[in-house]
Amino acid sequence: MTGSSPDSGNTATALFEPSPEFRADANAGPELQEAADKDRLAFWADQAARLHWHEPWSEVLDWSGGAAGAEPAERPSYVAKWFVGGQLNVAYNCVDRHVLDGHGDQVAIHFEGEPGDSRNITYSELLAEVSQAANYLTEIGLEAGDRVAIYMPMIPEAIISMLACARLGLTHSVVFAGFSPSALRQRVDDAEARLVITTDGQWRRGKAAPLKEAVDEALYANGGTPHSVEHVLVVRRTNLEIEWTDGRDVWWHETVAKASTEHEAQPFDAEHPLFILYTSGTTGKPKGIVHTTGGYLTQASYTHHNVFDHKAGKDVYWCTADIGWVTGHTYIVYGPLSNRTTQVVYEGTPNSPDEHRHWNIVEKYGVSIYYTAPTLIRTFMKWGRQIPQAHDLSSIRVLGSVGEPINPEAWRWYREVIGANKAPIVDTWWQTETGAIMISPLPGVTATKPGAAMAPLPGISVKIVDDEGNDVTDSEKEADFSVRSAGSAHVGYLVLDQPWPAMLRGIWGDMERYKATYWEKFAEQGWYFAGDGARYDEDGALWVLGRVDDVMNVSGHRISTSEVESALVGHSGVAEAAVVGASDETTGQGIVAFVILKGSTENTGDALVTELKAHVSKDISPIAKPREIHIVPELPKTRSGKIMRRLLRDVAEGRELGDTSTLVDPKVFEDIRAAR
Ligand code: WTA
Repeated sequence: MTGSSPDSGNTATALFEPSPEFRADANAGPELQEAADKDRLAFWADQAARLHWHEPWSEVLDWSGGAAGAEPAERPSYVAKWFVGGQLNVAYNCVDRHVLDGHGDQVAIHFEGEPGDSRNITYSELLAEVSQAANYLTEIGLEAGDRVAIYMPMIPEAIISMLACARLGLTHSVVFAGFSPSALRQRVDDAEARLVITTDGQWRRGKAAPLKEAVDEALYANGGTPHSVEHVLVVRRTNLEIEWTDGRDVWWHETVAKASTEHEAQPFDAEHPLFILYTSGTTGKPKGIVHTTGGYLTQASYTHHNVFDHKAGKDVYWCTADIGWVTGHTYIVYGPLSNRTTQVVYEGTPNSPDEHRHWNIVEKYGVSIYYTAPTLIRTFMKWGRQIPQAHDLSSIRVLGSVGEPINPEAWRWYREVIGANKAPIVDTWWQTETGAIMISPLPGVTATKPGAAMAPLPGISVKIVDDEGNDVTDSEKEADFSVRSAGSAHVGYLVLDQPWPAMLRGIWGDMERYKATYWEKFAEQGWYFAGDGARYDEDGALWVLGRVDDVMNVSGHRISTSEVESALVGHSGVAEAAVVGASDETTGQGIVAFVILKGSTENTGDALVTELKAHVSKDISPIAKPREIHIVPELPKTRSGKIMRRLLRDVAEGRELGDTSTLVDPKVFEDIRAAR
């Protein structure tokens, strides 16, 4: 459980009611819930009608793959089909249709580069550029169903690339540009991508950092072992000198930028795979989460419209995520563009050139909806309120939070300092797997509580249950996981007991893992196991508490403990490693590693710790770099040889040890403590 879990002792706080003015003009009203309660599938069919369908669907949902209680032999696939037989084109819905409706001159993207360059792209211009990219990708022989890896910083071409893929039915796999060459290679190989789209470099804290170099390194990995990539398409962003492989590498400005701006979008089946996005699981190998077309876009559009109260042509929206994460997919690209949003896309870090950057951007464009992560809010708090207070933030009218539980203190600060005590806060719970927001207040409808995600959205159904699947609200029992200090009763597993349109359709290439990860725990009931703990408070507000598995949440990024452990043991000096997420004031959790060295290791002490940190950072990504590494003589293990992470977490967080009775040798802790 993350240490930044809401301070649950404090839930009886007053509710923040929506103001009458907001309520009067809100997109969402109580009728949404009423409609969903009356007929859930009819409700989703209404939402799907937000989109343009080339062909109508014949059935809203086919969930025969998810039949509960089936015998193992006839185990269902747990693959839903939404809007069966319907056909649509995602890019047409996100771009063409707005131009055809007469909004071609509306700005789609206010791009703000880190070095200070900026560019406004209208929907007409976006259409022309997406068409050019689609024409070029067709020219090099890519066909619907092929996979394309996108490894790019936050520049318009990244969004254009995603839309061009969607337009052609190419399944994109966006790989966060902070990932290492080996992480990129693993993802390219797993999806067998035919094309990688990248940039020469990226701007980070005022400096141009190479990026194409990482692609070269990834593709030449292991002495140039064969890979699936035929072309590397390179956008020039920094003018850094790069290596060039003739025949394989092509410049964007020499190809895409010269292609025809006319392209007619073809429809695809509602279940055509739109994208794969890799996320950390409890084992070292990342999972390629598969999303499809019709249901995904329906829920992306519905949630963006209602949760953010977005008004097309009026609001200026800014989601600060990176397209390398699901938040960037659903709430920068597909949700907002399907709703004809004018949005800010910012390339860089929040303190380049200084800590005023975000608020300068809010002022410059009159941002009215701002969506970010608790870790950044806590960073702003640390920098001090005088920074945002030096700016006119009066344009802001809705604030969003995503990625981890938001602690009530940060929630209050966000509301008071950024939202002038009036902008409603939507704390949105969802996952890469859910595709779109599942649990959140609706502004104008839901009275909110600092730190609580409040309730599932209309059309979404959740339960909080114990290990047997009993509703914890009705049961005396609690789920059997090590929730620390969750405070009150009714803590349980968060499950989704009804299929939803944007749900994942599997793990790429590993449907057994898909079933085992999400559907096995509550196979009898046929419920989706989210991997999070949650509870209802005495007023019925829903609080999401954080992961109950070995997945850490560092600054809103999911990192598995075993991923970091395997990077550590990949270092020649390390014999064994155990990694835990310990609570961290700013990042939610910080990575704390305990390592046992090989007898032969000469280098010890601080120099080795520094080296190991750099090693993990290079092997996975700087986001996976441990906050602390402790060299210890032994690790606490159960009799069956399992490392007891729960106890290591106690040590890392400086707590009294929990139950050590199953340990082989409880004395190891004296040694570990001595080593700290
Ligand atoms: C956590 C990000 C509490 C949770 C969209 C989930 C949250 C994981 C919240 C998914 C929230 C996300 N409150 N916890 N509002 N939002 N989480 O796949 O543990 O990167 O399972 O998707 O983040 O992370 P992912």
